[in-house]
Amino acid sequence: MTSIDKTLHHNLRRVFRLGVGADSLTRYEPAILRSLKIYFRELQKEKDLEGWSSAADMRKWNLCLGFDTMADFGLGLKTDLLSSSAREFVFPTLHIHEKKMGLWEQLPILNDAGIGNLVGITLSLISPQARMFAKWYQAFLDQAIANNTSESRGIFGPVIQSGQGTLKFPGHNRAQMIGEGAFSTFSSADAYGMMVSGFLHYLCHYPYVYEKLAKEIRSMYMPGEDIAWNSKLESSVYLRAVINEVMRLLPPACGVHWRECERAGVTIGPERVPMTVGSDVGMSLFSLFRDGSLFREPVRFWPERWIPGVLPEAEYSLAKKMFTPFLIGPRNCAGSHVAIMIASIAYAYIIVNYDFRLGPKQHTTSSHVWSNTPEQAGAELELRFESHYSIAGWKSGPFIQFRAR
Ligand code: HEM
Repeated sequence: MTSIDKTLHHNLRRVFRLGVGADSLTRYEPAILRSLKIYFRELQKEKDLEGWSSAADMRKWNLCLGFDTMADFGLGLKTDLLSSSAREFVFPTLHIHEKKMGLWEQLPILNDAGIGNLVGITLSLISPQARMFAKWYQAFLDQAIANNTSESRGIFGPVIQSGQGTLKFPGHNRAQMIGEGAFSTFSSADAYGMMVSGFLHYLCHYPYVYEKLAKEIRSMYMPGEDIAWNSKLESSVYLRAVINEVMRLLPPACGVHWRECERAGVTIGPERVPMTVGSDVGMSLFSLFRDGSLFREPVRFWPERWIPGVLPEAEYSLAKKMFTPFLIGPRNCAGSHVAIMIASIAYAYIIVNYDFRLGPKQHTTSSHVWSNTPEQAGAELELRFESHYSIAGWKSGPFIQFRAR
């Protein structure tokens, strides 16, 4: 993400890929279950007589889950946001940084004009939370570098070694190491949190999906059994269909991913708008995935659309072709297989070990229900978005209760 230059990008991406090969994923995979166990230990601290935990705000908890998991899995770091009060200053500050980054991505001129630095300095002057965050972030960086310089402690280890000059081939300088390391950890943490929130939200609103997935996955694993990323887990076609459908309605990278036009003669869209060389073009994945001409009943959560044979072949192929939550081409997501791995383990672990349902607050509130397509099936069950321009986000919810099985 730190480079437009193609040779440099190729080199940085090659370093990143060293950490996400099969051996490395298998070695660090236990971090995913480790954090899930802490998450449920914390969520289950208060229970009613029937064993249901009190309704928890999943936006908050899933951000902590995402961060603790990716810091551990990515860098061998224990951030303990699930169980410490640091989350009270970490997330509000990151929220502002996310908004800022989203805005810069669409209007880089603001950053180039130095407003980015100005916002950073002003924030640290007026906000004690921002100062605490700056200290926390510095400690996070120091620890990440110390942990991974001589050998990897997580999948982002090679990025650190590259920035420290200990790899044999060309790679990152220090600024790129910090930029890429922080981007990979924070953006994948956010995406993971969103994937879990979307899963809980949609399964609670579509009970037939909950029942169908529960039946399938609970017949494969017993509560308490460790769930690993292997051919057994990958064999569940319905689990993968649910993952796709969550990413379709809630694409974690929901905004416009700009690409620069490099050659003359390119036209865009049905009206064939000509592009001049050097101009930028892009389209929001959020809009694309809700286009009714590509996806039948676009706002309805319907995982079956991803099972071969349910839709006519031509409609299925078109939907599959246009469904690109990780984008396509040489600049697509370099961790897409990691995202599928983590989501598969988390979804399976949750549904095997816990029953879950909407908390009472969810039933009475209407402020989380919103859609720009009110006439369509499923529109009344939409999650309310508060987009950070290119990064999906919302303030709170869904509110969920869990009960151990
Ligand atoms: C559901 C989860 C995820 C989604 C939907 C997602 C989506 C994306 C998208 C759309 C891009 C391209 C951004 C652009 O060029 O404008 C991207 C880039 C990237 N993603 Fe992901 N991502 C996810 C999870 C992850 C994970 C878990 C990792 C790390 C293990 C990761 C690492 C990266 C990296 C390194 C890039 C930059 C690639 C490059 O520029 O060559 N992502 N991601």
